[in-house]
Amino acid sequence: MSSKRVLVTGGLGFIGSHTVVALQQEGFEVVIIDNLSNSSIDVLGGITKITGKTPEYENIDLRDKNAVKDFFEEYQDIEDVIHFAASKAVGESVTNPLLYYENNISSLVYLLHELNKRPGSNFIFSSSCTVYGQADELPITENAPVKKAESPYGNTKQIGEEIIFDTCKTNQEFKAIALRYFNPIGAHPTAEIGELPIGTPQNLIPYITQTAIGKRDELSVFGDDYPTQDGTAIRDYIHVMDLAEAHVKALQRLLAEKEKANFEVFNLGTGTGNSVLEVIRSFEKVSEQELPYKIVGRREGDITAAYADTTKANDELGWKAERSLDDALASAWKWQKIVKKKEEEEEN
Ligand code: WQD
Repeated sequence: MSSKRVLVTGGLGFIGSHTVVALQQEGFEVVIIDNLSNSSIDVLGGITKITGKTPEYENIDLRDKNAVKDFFEEYQDIEDVIHFAASKAVGESVTNPLLYYENNISSLVYLLHELNKRPGSNFIFSSSCTVYGQADELPITENAPVKKAESPYGNTKQIGEEIIFDTCKTNQEFKAIALRYFNPIGAHPTAEIGELPIGTPQNLIPYITQTAIGKRDELSVFGDDYPTQDGTAIRDYIHVMDLAEAHVKALQRLLAEKEKANFEVFNLGTGTGNSVLEVIRSFEKVSEQELPYKIVGRREGDITAAYADTTKANDELGWKAERSLDDALASAWKWQKIVKKKEEEEEN
């Protein structure tokens, strides 16, 4: 339990909103900053329905250095930040790299600049397993080498970690944890919040659920000629609620000053890899309906396989993913049906 307010940037986004719920349920007071560029104000109501508490909310664009400065002048008590706000579409980052470098890097620098003035501040950074590229060894540990990013999006995560590392090196009073997510999927079991992809989903699970609900004709499976058991690529799909709970554990670690260094990195996955075809079979089982799909060529930049070695997070954070692939897919499907129902109500 903590009386201090925690700032969650991007707190109306997919992972951010689920983390706000988990924080509130642990007794934290939350302030959200979100510019609604990839989320909806309705998510605030969804959070409130789940926890009974409406977080404070500020519509600020973190690329506006003065707005960030004004925020911290107003919120003098905030010294704990979980930073989700960033652009995250791999494909878009390739076609519009400067948008990604400006949004993902400038906002990070302006936040750190303010926090650096507050001794004892704690910073949790939303990073990604994409920094490993195709790892040489599986499962992937935090000691695996960071490889040249396949996309500007991935590069912003690598650069972000380096900026934080350098900040921690020059200021021992500043403590940070980078959490490298594998593949976040699913939705809160109440289906009050979930993933809201804008336009055509780039990620596998929202594309599957939109196909199953009839919004898309069929899923394209990007390649079945990978050197894997069934030829399709393998990922570590982690339920977004498990991911959210890991953020609370990371914050509690810093607040309890249990960190071993003032910059730490943790892989957040289940430790199990599943192929695209295995995900399809699991979805068909939980939804009790056949999923139309076709095999097409590989997607540019995709790797064969990635799944986490979760030992460090298990031992140091006292956290372990508890939910299964079936649980995550069932929650994603429940959420997709609610989204469709709401869309139909809005049309009528
Ligand atoms: C998963 C698998 C595809 C769509 C990326 C980012 C990562 C994070 C999550 C932001 C792959 C296959 C997908 C489709 C398919 N991003 N696929 N048909 O690429 O592992 O990770 O998104 O937080 O940082 O790197 O996730 O869901 O796009 O793909 O066959 O229509 O599904 O080839 O094997 P990915 P994904």
